[in-house]
Amino acid sequence: MAIQQKGMHGAWASRWTFIMAATGSAVGLGNMWKFPYVAGSNGGGAFVLVYLGCILLIGVPVMMAEVLIGRQGRQSPINSMRDAVAESDAKSRWRHVGWVGVAAGMLILSFYAVIAGWALAYIFEAASGELAGVSGDTAGAIFGSLLADPSRLIFWQSIFMLLCVGVVVGGVKKGLGVAVEILMPVLFVMLLLLLGFSFFRGNFSAAWDFLFNFNLQLLTWRGVLEAMGQAFFTLSIGMGAIMAYGAYMPQKANIGKTILIVAFFDSLVAIISGLIIFSIVFATQGIEPSAGPGLMFISLPVAFGGMPGGLLIGSAFFVLVSIAAWSSAISLLEPCVAWLIEAKDISRVQANLLLAGFAWVLGLGSVLSFNVWSDIKFAGLTFFDFLDFLTANIMLPLSGLLIAVFVGYVMKREFVDYQMQGTAPKILALWRLTLRYVAPVAISAVFVMGIYDKFFS
Ligand code: PHE
Repeated sequence: MAIQQKGMHGAWASRWTFIMAATGSAVGLGNMWKFPYVAGSNGGGAFVLVYLGCILLIGVPVMMAEVLIGRQGRQSPINSMRDAVAESDAKSRWRHVGWVGVAAGMLILSFYAVIAGWALAYIFEAASGELAGVSGDTAGAIFGSLLADPSRLIFWQSIFMLLCVGVVVGGVKKGLGVAVEILMPVLFVMLLLLLGFSFFRGNFSAAWDFLFNFNLQLLTWRGVLEAMGQAFFTLSIGMGAIMAYGAYMPQKANIGKTILIVAFFDSLVAIISGLIIFSIVFATQGIEPSAGPGLMFISLPVAFGGMPGGLLIGSAFFVLVSIAAWSSAISLLEPCVAWLIEAKDISRVQANLLLAGFAWVLGLGSVLSFNVWSDIKFAGLTFFDFLDFLTANIMLPLSGLLIAVFVGYVMKREFVDYQMQGTAPKILALWRLTLRYVAPVAISAVFVMGIYDKFFS
């Protein structure tokens, strides 16, 4: 049964398509919207250093492990994990890891579509000229009025969800594969153009100092937990997206090298986005780096509103953000869709509609948390903040930890070695060491300290 199911969803055309798809998944709102504001609220430099450390020491090894399980199983994360557990004669409890991941995916998709909706709304906001000449305060007020209006938020959330369904129904090759091969190069070119703009028109050196001069005193354990959560979130690990994409990866591709490329692109985009946004923030009065989730939506309109050609560049920027969000959100939907197709006798279209519909309904909670429900708190957080914290800082690291332990200790060596063929023995040993010791210890420690810091101090 399991054997017959293998590979039923198709495969990427080449290793390059995998790289584009995985980079598309990784590069998203996490890089352009979340990274700058989380770094901004945590004091900049020291946070960035810890974040990059987490990417390299924990993120990359865990990402490799995740891809490995996917490629070994060649199915949705839940079933790839199930097979990996069975083939390794491991305790069946391990199968839950796939479930945690897919559940996290649905939760993330629900709020992700709402934020991506903001970016869509801003394409038109910028193009209409409404942002021309705005001050920091006015930009804040315009953003505030969007958040206060559930029907507008729901409208854009729905459009974004439909865009995602539109790609994922096309399947792996013709849907996801084609989309990322077009979207990713466009994204990189636009990003570089905007970097050039902020270099000449913004306060680039202040942005540089803010991101790279570190003052360790500004860092708390809570900040370290957020840096680690951000590393997981931005690399799309711990929820099955990368496992699902790994399932469609050509057998010849070297997992280590390929993942290093993806992680490099992802970090590069985060840093470039940070430079673009902070160059503008520091060149504008009335906006603080610690402005929170609205940072991008308040600072950029001010910059674009005040310059010739701002209409065009402003809308281009939000097109860029929307593209990045789109190529990530499809990777949140795909693992769940793949699983539903395997588990139930339904078509790709039906699976898409059901799951996107589910995430859409759940997303209404996030929509309302910005207005009508803004006073309703879970553990001191609004519905949206709670989901964000729960997924990025708890579920993703937790399932990342389990994946590291599974591949490091439990999975049969012959499978691991087979998937890692062509990797230099020293690198292989180093990777295994990281999975067995460094990642589990680091994740557990940051976890305990961060939760303690957040809730008990
Ligand atoms: N990595 C994406 C981003 O940075 C978010 C994401 C998380 C996508 C998990 C898929 C899975 O925006």
